[in-house]
Amino acid sequence: MGLFQWLWKERQQPSNETSKRKLVKQGDRSYIEDVPYLLPKDKQEIDRLDLQHYLLRYMLQRNYFAPIHNPGRILDIGCGTGRWAIEMAESLPKTEVVGLDIIEPKVAIEGRPKNVLFMQRDVLKGIPFSSSLFDYTHMRFLIAALPQNKYQDVVNAMVRVVRPGGWVEIAEPGLMINADTGLDTLWNWLIVLGKRRSIDMTAGEHLPRFLENAGLTNVALKTVTIPCGMHGGQVGEMSAKNIISLLGGLREPVIALKIATAAQFDHMFERTKSELANPKGSAMGPMYIAVGQRPK
Ligand SMILES: C[S@@+](CC[C@H](N)C(=O)[O-])C[C@H]1O[C@@H](n2cnc3c(N)ncnc32)[C@H](O)[C@@H]1O
Repeated sequence: MGLFQWLWKERQQPSNETSKRKLVKQGDRSYIEDVPYLLPKDKQEIDRLDLQHYLLRYMLQRNYFAPIHNPGRILDIGCGTGRWAIEMAESLPKTEVVGLDIIEPKVAIEGRPKNVLFMQRDVLKGIPFSSSLFDYTHMRFLIAALPQNKYQDVVNAMVRVVRPGGWVEIAEPGLMINADTGLDTLWNWLIVLGKRRSIDMTAGEHLPRFLENAGLTNVALKTVTIPCGMHGGQVGEMSAKNIISLLGGLREPVIALKIATAAQFDHMFERTKSELANPKGSAMGPMYIAVGQRPK
């Protein structure tokens, strides 16, 4: 049975794990119940993830860095809205692209390429494929979902399902640079929130180490620094919108965990908006993209 046939069959019979995923309301935002993941899962967040995807593609002028040539199968871990997987499927019509997420993206089947499929799974419970099945595995922005002691396990699983000679690529953000008081404070609350769930928001800096520990060769790192705020022109403006929306999504958990009061949060949030609207600001957000090859 082909991979896609097998997946279609799997989708008809959701596992217990799949069917019990629930969203919980906190304030006016929805979050996935019983997962370490820090960010909301709702329409606002879908819009933010799409904006972030377009911003990154514009900055990098591409969707990936691994030197892949006509891959047969691609796996995207934590595929979010499915945008990356769909674009990959469109640009590589002969490639089967599988997007895996703890909540399957709501992408209409009509109009999406036939060579992309989505699957609902918790990656913290492993990657449900046999070894060496894919030519390329990709993961982007999962830092806020993977506890510190699980990140390496997930990378190891990505390496296990990629064939010898195939490529693994991971992209994660770093800590904000040159942030003014408001943004710096909110970013620190994000770090504290992460720590409460054993998530290390600095993990992005260590991507090459994760790939090397998993036994990959030809490991390379690309770092891109994205301006955040009006000082960065159109890119800076887009990036500011993304960051403001991201930080807004932290309000409820930050207050619920008593990291800050509602008044403190709202004050810093408004302050951040003014800082990012100031053309004299200089905040920058690094993005780390690491690739590595499974030895042949
Ligand atoms: C910040 S989004 C990134 C989405 C996408 N990779 C992108 O670049 O736009 C993180 C995604 O990870 C998913 N996620 C969180 N915890 C997960 C888990 N344990 N297993 C699988 N996916 C998970 C979330 O549902 C969300 O779609």
